[in-house]
Amino acid sequence: MYLSRLHLRNWRNSAEQVLELPPEGAAIIGDNGQGKTNLLEAVYYLEIFRSFRGAPDEQLVRFGEDVFRVEGTLTAPEGGERTLAAAFERRRRKKKVTVNGAEPERLGDALGLVSAVIFSPSDVELVAGAPGERRRFLDIVLSLAEPGYLAALQRYRHALFQRNTLLRQGSPRALVQAFDDALVASGSRVVAARARWVAERAPSFAEHYARVAGGQPGSLAFAPSVDLPQPTPPVDEVARTFAAQLERVADRETARGMTLAGPHRDDLRFTTASAEGQPLDLRTYGSGGQQRTAAIALRMVEAETIRETRGRESVILLDDVFAELDPGRSRRIIEWIDAAEGGQVILTSPKPGDVQIHGGALPQWSMKDGVARPM
Ligand SMILES: Nc1ncnc2c1ncn2[C@@H]1O[C@H](COP(=O)(O)OP(=O)(O)OP(=O)(O)O)[C@@H](O)[C@H]1O
Ligand SMILES: [Mg+2]
Repeated sequence: MYLSRLHLRNWRNSAEQVLELPPEGAAIIGDNGQGKTNLLEAVYYLEIFRSFRGAPDEQLVRFGEDVFRVEGTLTAPEGGERTLAAAFERRRRKKKVTVNGAEPERLGDALGLVSAVIFSPSDVELVAGAPGERRRFLDIVLSLAEPGYLAALQRYRHALFQRNTLLRQGSPRALVQAFDDALVASGSRVVAARARWVAERAPSFAEHYARVAGGQPGSLAFAPSVDLPQPTPPVDEVARTFAAQLERVADRETARGMTLAGPHRDDLRFTTASAEGQPLDLRTYGSGGQQRTAAIALRMVEAETIRETRGRESVILLDDVFAELDPGRSRRIIEWIDAAEGGQVILTSPKPGDVQIHGGALPQWSMKDGVARPM
């Protein structure tokens, strides 16, 4: 499947336009602030129905307008078609998603249909930023790849919110504990899925990191808040440990007025090795380029997960990712895209010479004032 058509109306700085995209994709070239990232944001909106930049829907509506609409047509090489659309009304704060014209029963049913992965300069925050960035990453990948994950996560957030409210108000322990079963049942599903995903994908992360970094080692590990008895425990074992841990921190929770154990405190760790072979935490000690490399390796692993889950190539969106990388790293990323993926690539750059994907054969488009057109 590739994105053959994109129809935008009042999306960011774009009034209305219809783009017919070739199966191999396009290189979108334009000066700063013209709308290149906005365009990729629109494509990815059809994957998760949220802004990849974390912008609230209101901000996506063109200034002075009330409703945006994004519609994409996916075409299979064999000929099948699927149309996804999303519209948001600012005044009534209403979002409507349709797949082939019909509203899905749950939004979750419409997630991941584009099979897109986006690489962006802000991905460096996945490594250098706060733990919440990494949990958000895990939650998006696992919501796209694992049936039931999103529902468990939503139940967990609900139970956590209620429990934290009671703790903050200094409610009696028995009232707080009334939420423990729900917290443990949903939370252990979330933790078990995260642990399994990281364990499965860590070898591939290490491979990607080493290749892009020209041989330097890099590793990915899960840093769970609940002490896991083994790297990939079954859900009921996580539940047992989680419940026991809540018992142990009960007094501290009362004192601090919040829940102190659970997946809302999970993290990921990225490490490389020093010249002497000592492990170095990339979040604390990594150079900008090393942190970017780890973020790119993580996105590559995400692309693999999506490809395996959906059983087809992912649409790769590259938002000006080569700007801060040395030429060797850029070349090796391009080799990966050409070799392993081979599907549609939509990339942006302010400089025309920058982009050598598919041997420089990607059709070039210009972007000016929110309007993209073939050059
Ligand atoms: N809701 C909106 N309505 C109208 N214009 C908007 C809206 N949101 C953002 N913009 C405009 O979009 C432009 C930024 O677009 P975008 O981030 O896509 O730029 P870009 O081409 O990726 O630039 P750069 O090369 O600097 O990354 C800005 O000029 C901004 O004012
Ligand atoms: Mg941009």
